[in-house]
Amino acid sequence: MSKIKTMEINTSLIDAINYRRSVRIYDETKEIDAEIVKKCIDQATLSPSSSNMQLWEFHHIVSSKILNQLSIACLDQSAAKTAKQLVVIVVRKDLWKQRTKANAAYLKNSFGNKPESEYSSREQFALNYYQKLLPFIYADFLGIFGAIKYIIGWVIGLFKPSYRQLSNADMRIVAHKSAGLAAQTFMLSMAAKNYDTCPMEGIDTLRIKKILNLPTSSEINMVISCGIRKPEGVYGDRFRIPFESVYKQW
Ligand SMILES: Cc1cc2nc3c(=O)[nH]c(=O)nc-3n(C[C@H](O)[C@H](O)[C@H](O)COP(=O)(O)O)c2cc1C
Repeated sequence: MSKIKTMEINTSLIDAINYRRSVRIYDETKEIDAEIVKKCIDQATLSPSSSNMQLWEFHHIVSSKILNQLSIACLDQSAAKTAKQLVVIVVRKDLWKQRTKANAAYLKNSFGNKPESEYSSREQFALNYYQKLLPFIYADFLGIFGAIKYIIGWVIGLFKPSYRQLSNADMRIVAHKSAGLAAQTFMLSMAAKNYDTCPMEGIDTLRIKKILNLPTSSEINMVISCGIRKPEGVYGDRFRIPFESVYKQW
């Protein structure tokens, strides 16, 4: 089996965007380098995330045993069955306390670890954001606090512009949005190395969580299969709705 050496191929962002296609059949004779895939995951962590909370995990599957189990949980899709490796993007909204603490610690360190009384108002505002505002936004109990916060946001919104994404469902969307951006950064990084991917949400998320031993509070954002395309693995030309019908200039 040939090991594709693609480290030296560096295409531009536009080339990577054009190269990326959802590949449903990978070439079984062509291996991909786990180190390159890992580097692309590292690139994905540079994606923006809501309040820099980084409520994500990237599970990189190289073990053939787990690949087999996951391909069944991916409903036997050929994009999973023929893949050489898989990346499962997991949303960890439950890690919000750790992430707010990490952000606050980072800020304190960058402010020079001085006593709180010496913080400038800008520094105090930034710290309050992670130590007070985000805990208020993320804290929930069975969706009850979320519903109350949603109503509070709605009432305030009657009088002035107000942040409204406060219900439990809203917060899930917030976390999944950021994970989706990371997924795209990963796929473009792969494309820049002429490695192929297919994002999948046609999957059994409960089974995937069990296979990866993930906590119930985690959520699967998507599974991304990886490999080198077979020509017939790209199903036809790209179809896109005419640009004029989706582009609105104001
Ligand atoms: C969130 C998401 C979920 C997707 N799920 C699947 C899937 O389960 N199986 C599949 O074959 N393709 C899946 N796709 C791929 C889309 O069908 C594909 O992106 C679309 O047809 C456009 O083709 P292109 O990616 O080659 O440009 C998914 C794409 C996204 C963004």
